[in-house]
Amino acid sequence: MSTHIAAASGEIAETVLLPGDPLRAEWIARTYLDDATCYSRVRNMLGFTGRYRGVPVSVQGTGMGQPSLSIYVHELLAEYGARTLVRVGSCGSMQPHVGIRDVVIGLSAATDSAENVLRFEGFHYAPTADFQLVRAVVERAEAAGTRHHVGQLFSTDSFYHDRPELRDRLRDFGVLAVEMEAAALYTLAAKFGARALAVCTVSDHLITGDETSSDERERTFGDMVELALDAVTG
Ligand code: HPA
Repeated sequence: MSTHIAAASGEIAETVLLPGDPLRAEWIARTYLDDATCYSRVRNMLGFTGRYRGVPVSVQGTGMGQPSLSIYVHELLAEYGARTLVRVGSCGSMQPHVGIRDVVIGLSAATDSAENVLRFEGFHYAPTADFQLVRAVVERAEAAGTRHHVGQLFSTDSFYHDRPELRDRLRDFGVLAVEMEAAALYTLAAKFGARALAVCTVSDHLITGDETSSDERERTFGDMVELALDAVTG
């Protein structure tokens, strides 16, 4: 038992999928994992362990935003020995060529969070995904014919921005999509010598205003989860 996760030692697999929504964690476990059992219900931030094609895999909800994700990811790394962490989430496209329902594979993550400003004082750390995981997911996306893009995410602390023009500047510098967790995930994984990646489906488009329906969100989310599970267990 750690402060926010009620699992006993050994109950969480080395490979963990990380949806923001705990009900998505339950859905992934029930839909894709064999013999899934729930190891934690603390604060309703559900976590499950089962097997995918015989390989032990856990799924842990993280909540929204970097402070919430950091709590769960820190405890998974520091107390449960997690080694491979893949966020499976949604993002908002910031580029005309990144379409609604496409998959964005986050090679790196810019952020407006103060976490790394405080952690690294005068330096500007570059939160970066694990290359082997990037390659594995890209290979699966190519094989499945899934429209995908590899590049920089923007992990923001503010869903509702008072200064959206700053986000537009990131778009001018090639950032693909906005979400709220990847930079903290990459930084913590690096700190603990583990591997991390964020894979996100585009749920809304910041330029066109398009949004996916809830049916589309469920289907595209499922396709992406399969890509991630194949990549981490293959
Ligand atoms: N902003 C932040 N996070 C998001 C968005 C967004 O527009 N869409 C999906 N996740």
